[in-house]
Amino acid sequence: MADLSAEFSSRVHLIEHPLLAHKITKLRDINTDFGQFNARVGEIAMIEAYEALRDLHTELVEIQTPLERSAQPLLKGESPAVVAILRAGLAMAEGVRRLLPEAVVGHIGMYRDPITHLPQRYYCKLPPRISERTIIVTDPMLATGGSAADTITEVKDLGGRDIRFLCIVAAPEGVRKLQEAHPDVEIYIGALDRELNEHKYILPGLGDAGDRIFGTL
Ligand code: PRP
Ligand code: URA
Repeated sequence: MADLSAEFSSRVHLIEHPLLAHKITKLRDINTDFGQFNARVGEIAMIEAYEALRDLHTELVEIQTPLERSAQPLLKGESPAVVAILRAGLAMAEGVRRLLPEAVVGHIGMYRDPITHLPQRYYCKLPPRISERTIIVTDPMLATGGSAADTITEVKDLGGRDIRFLCIVAAPEGVRKLQEAHPDVEIYIGALDRELNEHKYILPGLGDAGDRIFGTL
């Protein structure tokens, strides 16, 4: 992890790994088609989730191997939940599910108003017993931070407590907003970019993540 302590709280984690950097560059490249883009987003989410779930608790469970009975570790308690911010968070959630097929999945529909750039919520469905689960909220882009902050407020209102946010590219403004709104949430970032432009797009960024994932450009 990179040291961001001069700028952000200790809950903000910038993941450093050559594979992650390589895959993010592929996303930034305008010549990457939407099939490739979608695949890379899923792989990046797997790498990030691996880091974000390091502290999950396990318990010893008696199993029968082909040779003998043995006590071995399995994840303890309710399965983690992945909560995708629609649309772009879906591709990350699929990656997390490949890493952890037991994860249950929730969806929160948010879009940014093109004029005000403020998030508008249009859908919410979370798994049961959300208060007992480790929750990973996914969205590739943390721009102004409005969508992530409002989503996490909604998840908390519905009982969520142990929440980790995974994004691929973040702007400093968005990280600041999210850590101020939710200082208890662990924030995992693949790349910390320079700034937002006048339309609140991240620079250098990768463009509109939802459009590039789903081919709706
Ligand atoms: C994008 C992105 C985030 C949001 C980030 O979604 O996937 O949800 O913008 O911006 P913010 O940090 O300024 O809130 P968008 O509104 O384009 O919706 P879409 O995924 O349906 O295309
Ligand atoms: N949403 C995106 O998809 N891209 C940005 O750069 C900012 C918000």
